[in-house]
Amino acid sequence: MTDPDVTAWRSHMCGALSVEQVGQQVRLAGWVHRRREHGLVLFVDLRDRAGLVQLVFDAQLSEEALQQAGDLRSEYVIAVGGEVVARSEDAVNPAIATGAVEVRVATVQVLNTSEVPPVQVDDQVAEAAEDVRLKYRFLDLRRTRPQEILRLRHEVLLAARGYLDGRGFMEIETPILTRPTPEGARDYLVPSRNFPGSFYALPQSPQIFKQILMVAGFDRYFQIARCFRDEDMRADRQAEFTQIDIEASFVDEEDIQRLVEGLMVQLFAAADVKLDTPFPRMSYDDAMLRYGSDKPDLRFGLEITDVSEVVQGRGFRVFDDVVGKGGVVRGLAWPGGAAIPRARIDALTEQCRQWGAGGLVWIKMGSDGVKSPVAKFLGDEGCRQAAMAVGAGEGDLALLVADSKSVAARVLGNLRLWLAERLELIPSAPARETVFKMLWVTDFPLLEWNEEDQRFYACHHPFTSPRMEDLERLESDPSSIRARAYDLVVNGSEIGGGSIRIHSRAVQDRVFRALGIGAEEATRKFDFLLQALSYGAPPHGGIALGVERIIMALTGASSIRDVIAFPKTTSASDLMTGAPAPLDEGQLKELFLKFVPPPRK
Ligand code: AMO
Ligand code: AMP
Repeated sequence: MTDPDVTAWRSHMCGALSVEQVGQQVRLAGWVHRRREHGLVLFVDLRDRAGLVQLVFDAQLSEEALQQAGDLRSEYVIAVGGEVVARSEDAVNPAIATGAVEVRVATVQVLNTSEVPPVQVDDQVAEAAEDVRLKYRFLDLRRTRPQEILRLRHEVLLAARGYLDGRGFMEIETPILTRPTPEGARDYLVPSRNFPGSFYALPQSPQIFKQILMVAGFDRYFQIARCFRDEDMRADRQAEFTQIDIEASFVDEEDIQRLVEGLMVQLFAAADVKLDTPFPRMSYDDAMLRYGSDKPDLRFGLEITDVSEVVQGRGFRVFDDVVGKGGVVRGLAWPGGAAIPRARIDALTEQCRQWGAGGLVWIKMGSDGVKSPVAKFLGDEGCRQAAMAVGAGEGDLALLVADSKSVAARVLGNLRLWLAERLELIPSAPARETVFKMLWVTDFPLLEWNEEDQRFYACHHPFTSPRMEDLERLESDPSSIRARAYDLVVNGSEIGGGSIRIHSRAVQDRVFRALGIGAEEATRKFDFLLQALSYGAPPHGGIALGVERIIMALTGASSIRDVIAFPKTTSASDLMTGAPAPLDEGQLKELFLKFVPPPRK
C-alpha cells in the first residue's frame, strides 16, 4: 500500500521527521508558522497537520532560496525541497517532536500567499477573543488544540461504530425533514413550497423513527444522529448537536446499561482512559436528597443530609412552618468553615436567596463553643445535634436550608458545587489523569408537574414506559409513577439518557391522557406511532449519548464550542457564514411567506 501522506507535493509530513531521515532529500509542503532571521541564515518553522519542522535557508546552500525566503510571511503556503540534517546538540529543541532535526532548503516554491492573519495560529499565545476566532474559524482550526480535539472526536465516533457494528447494531439514517416531535424544546421549522402554510421540523432526536424501526423488526439500530433544538444555549448546549443514538428490541434496563458500559469503555479507551465496569447506580430520589441534583458529581463528598426530624418542634418558626407544610430542612457541612467571617456568610446567604432559598441558617462549630442565629431557639445542644447530623464537627460550619423538597435540593445542590469549587476539590487535569466518576441515575419520576402551565410534562419523553407495578396509580396519583428511564452521568455532566419504551398502544393512550394530550390531538400528532404500536410492536428500549458532552469530558474543554468544528454562538448564529440570514423577497414569495417585523420595544 502506498503511504497516504506522500502526494504530488510532498515526500514526508513536516511533523513526522526525525533522526531516521537524516541524510535524506525530502519534499515538504505546509504553512509558514514563524520566520526568524539570524544574520545570513533564515529559519522558518513549517507546519502541516502532523506538526512543525524547522527549515534552514542558508546562502551557502542556495542564494536564490534565501532570497525567496525573505519574502515569506506568516501563513503563506509553500513547498520546499532539501536535506534532513541532525541539529547540533546545543541546538536541539525538546519543545517540538522534530526538534532533533532541521531541513536545509535547496528549493522553495510559494503556493499561496496570505493576508496578515487576524488571529495567531499558535497555541502558545493568549487566545484571541472568541468572536474573532469563530469568524476566522479556518485559521483558528489550524491550531494544534482544535486539530487534536477533532481528531479525538473522529476516533471516538469510529470506536462507537466499530463497537456497535460488532454487536449486531445496524446504522440506519432517519429523516431530517420530519414532523414536529414533542421532545420538550422548540423545533427548528422549514417551510414547504409544495404545501403552502405547512412546515417540516428538524428532528430534536430520531426518537419515534428508531422506535418504528424496532416495530419494523430491525432488532438493533444505531445512528450518529444530528439533532436540532431551538432552546436557550449554555456552556454545554448547542442548537445542533450529535447523538450516538441506540435502540434495541427485547431488552430491559440492564441490557441497555451493560451495552453502554461496554461502549463507554471503548470510547474512553480512544483517549487512553481506562474505565471500570459496572458503573454504580443511584436512584433519582437518592441523588436529589444527597446531592441536590439529578446529575451528581461524585468526585467529592460534601453530601447533603435531611435534618427535619432533628430541628423541628424546637421553636424556630421558619423550620416548624416549612416542615409543617410538608417541606424539609436539609444541610451540608463546610469543612474548616467555622473560621469564615460573618460578612462572607451574609454574602453566601444572599447567593442562596438568588438560587431561590428563603434564607440560610448557619451553625459555627468553633473550639470555643457553638454559634448560630438560631441558638436561642434550638439551644447550643440542638445546634450541635443539627450540625453533627449534616457532618459538621469542630472547626466546621453547618449550613441549613428550609424549603420544599425541590427548592431545598436545588439550593443545596448549587451550594455543594459552589463549595467544591471554592475548596478546590475538583482538580483540573489532562484526560489521562482525570478521575472519571461514572454513574447511572435511575427511577426517575415519569411525570413532572408544571406550576406555570398547570399540567404534567414527561420527565424524559412521552414514549417512556412507566414501571408496570406503578401503572395502576397513573390516573389517581400521577406524580408517584416511576419511569423506566436512566441517565448516564460523568463528573456531574449528563452525557446520556434513555428508557424502556411503551410498546402497548393502550398504555401509550393512557400516558398521553395523563399528559393532557387528548385522543384527537394524539391522533393528529402521533397517529403513525399509535398505528405502529397496534401492529405487533416488540418490547424495546434505548438511549442517546451526547457526543459533544463525551468529548468535553475527555478533553476537559469548558465550552461545547471547542469540540465542534463549526459551532454556533449562544444566540445560535454562525459568525463565519453569517447564518441565519434574511431571505430576499423572491424566496419568501416562493414559499408563500411574509415577514412581519417584531414590534419595537
Ligand atoms: P435527551 O434529550 O436526554 O434524550 O438527549 C440525550 C443526550 O443528548 C445530549 N444533549 C445535548 N448535547 C448538546 N446540546 C444540546 N442542546 C443537547 N441536548 C441533549 C445530552 C443528553 O444526555 N430521544 C432521547 C434519547 C432516548 O430516549 O433514547 C433523547 O434525545 O448528553
Ligand atoms: P427571619 O426569620 O426571616 O429573620 O430569618 C432568620 C434566619 O433564618 C436568618 O438567618 C435567615 O437567613 C434564616 N432563614 C429564613 N428563611 C430560611 C429558610 N427557608 N431556610 C433556611 N434559613 C432561613
